[in-house]
Amino acid sequence: MHFGNAWYPEHWPEERWEHDVKLMREAGTTVCRLAEFAWSSIEPTDGCYELEWIDRAITLLNKYGIATVLGTPTAAPPAWVTYYHPDTLAVDPTGRPASHGNRCHASANSPTYLKYSRRVVEHMARRFGNDTRVIGWQIDNEYHRVDYSDTAKRQFQHFLKDRFVTIDKLNEHWSTRYWSQTYDFWEQIPIPVGAHNPGLMLAFRQFVTFTWQEFQRHQIEAIRNNSHCGQWITTNLMGWFDGLDTYKVAKDLDFVSWDWYIGTGHHNYLNTGLIHDLNRGFKQKNFWVMETQPGTVNWSPNNNFLNKGEARVMAFHAAAHGADAFLYWQWRSAPGGQEQLHGSLLGADGNPRPFYEEASQIGSDFKRVSEALKDTTVKADVAILHSYEARWAINAQRHNSEFDPVQYMEQCYHPLARHNVSVDVISPNAPLEDYSLVVAPALNVLPDDTAAHITAWVQAGGVLLLTPRTGHKDEYDALHSTLQPGPLREVAGVEVQEYYSLYDRVPVEASWDGTSCGEGLIWAELLRPLSASTRVVAMYGASNGWLDGKPAATIHPFGEAGGKVIVVGAWLDERLQESLMLWVLAEAGLSGIESPPEVEITVRQAEDGRKVTFVINHGREARSVTLPASTAGQRDLLSDSIVPATISLPAYGVAVLANT
Ligand code: GAL
Repeated sequence: MHFGNAWYPEHWPEERWEHDVKLMREAGTTVCRLAEFAWSSIEPTDGCYELEWIDRAITLLNKYGIATVLGTPTAAPPAWVTYYHPDTLAVDPTGRPASHGNRCHASANSPTYLKYSRRVVEHMARRFGNDTRVIGWQIDNEYHRVDYSDTAKRQFQHFLKDRFVTIDKLNEHWSTRYWSQTYDFWEQIPIPVGAHNPGLMLAFRQFVTFTWQEFQRHQIEAIRNNSHCGQWITTNLMGWFDGLDTYKVAKDLDFVSWDWYIGTGHHNYLNTGLIHDLNRGFKQKNFWVMETQPGTVNWSPNNNFLNKGEARVMAFHAAAHGADAFLYWQWRSAPGGQEQLHGSLLGADGNPRPFYEEASQIGSDFKRVSEALKDTTVKADVAILHSYEARWAINAQRHNSEFDPVQYMEQCYHPLARHNVSVDVISPNAPLEDYSLVVAPALNVLPDDTAAHITAWVQAGGVLLLTPRTGHKDEYDALHSTLQPGPLREVAGVEVQEYYSLYDRVPVEASWDGTSCGEGLIWAELLRPLSASTRVVAMYGASNGWLDGKPAATIHPFGEAGGKVIVVGAWLDERLQESLMLWVLAEAGLSGIESPPEVEITVRQAEDGRKVTFVINHGREARSVTLPASTAGQRDLLSDSIVPATISLPAYGVAVLANT
């Protein structure tokens, strides 16, 4: 487990640096990020590089046993780049170029910017690529900028040409006779601004993804060509951000990392567990939390401080879900600049702020668990499928503004998390054979080959849960020519006769666990069984007339190996959703671990079967927790004591159990 922070030594006189590094060391820091955003200090004028100061900072960190991660500085090109090469500035949807002075102002579509970015990274990599004090690289920062310039438009048109080959094919897939959109040649195709043709909007997101893949590829090449000492490459992602398809961007990285900020309010472990699992799923391996708030941020409507103890449970929660590092942003705020009021570990006077104490506690706690966590990760029997295409398609046509695909995913995840069932969040095209249960929340865009992949897994004995809005569209965001769930109709043994955006709630009576009554809200689909072996397990009560007494959920056996497909047509209320998820789990032969409210029990394990169990009280009340039998006789690595069968956890209390 690494513990650390982002340090920008370029803001302070060098005489001060060693004092900073000593304080870092005292806080248990093992890793530090440098050089991100420092392009103007690295290449103050065109082609003149100053890298000595970075070397001196690395030397100091190394002296105190702290490893360095180098950030490439490309999210903040210097004034000479943007002044002499205005074509590097990104253009907004109204046609206005960005101004200098706010980072991320450059366009990843600009060949000039790409050239200078690659060159500065090459210089850094030549200098530090074989420096073993540098363990890895973070490329750029939070890719997100979209450029609407003519250059970007031309590149988009080329991208489409590569993809569709003929303009007729594009016209056909996008149904362009509709509203006379038919294109005669590629140059007529616009960049979508606001609502537009769904096919065009989806393709543009794919193009933005491609843009960032290319941008990243340049830097990866620059580093890999010059680094031969095992340094890794990552970038820092942004949780649910859907501006690009992270599965594609993650492919070329060694692992992903993400920036976890709460902003206003408090840590909700049910929601963030899902985001950690999403990040672990990008490459199906552990990840880093590259940035998190030391108490507070500066950009939220209310930058409230985390409660005392809250940051510590956040750190262990991340570790429990597969984080191998946890880094604060940032060590100390620059005296000027846009982020003066952000949380940090040191104050303006250069002394530790109150939060430093909690950070130091985390640093020393991590030391206690680090060895036990080596080579461990989360092993899940349940997968939730997540697709950017599906989210883009629904978000472009919500139909009911409350149908938020991320919230629906949370709706499926929360009951599992409450019962401490580990979940992998993965792409629908990822291998499925390790899972007993797969949940496909609102998998709206469902290409035929993905459907075939899922069908083969059900045929081999998998249990699949399909939900509202699944299998509606093809890979071009056009309607499938069959009713939902489109290419999964046969395996599901059911089709959706009609879908209803709900204004009034609809009663739902389910028979899956005796009788469970509840309500559907936001969305309800009228199901029609297609096979004699399809069993109806929930019915709608009287509501809009159309749904009255009609099937709301079904189960259908498929194949000889015990495969089953459960289809639920409605967004269910929280209680009914919980009973559905528990029943579905049981159908897959799985069960969870019981724990008191707000107490999470999560396991990381190694290939050799070694297990580490995290017991985390996310709440502000003390809880008594009966531990799973598998932990009998184990030691809590934090208190260094053998645990009894029932332990008492204070508010924000944590125990980490393992055989020692
Ligand atoms: C992140 C960014 C950091 C810092 C932080 C403040 O999005 O990557 O550089 O600005 O926000 O919360």
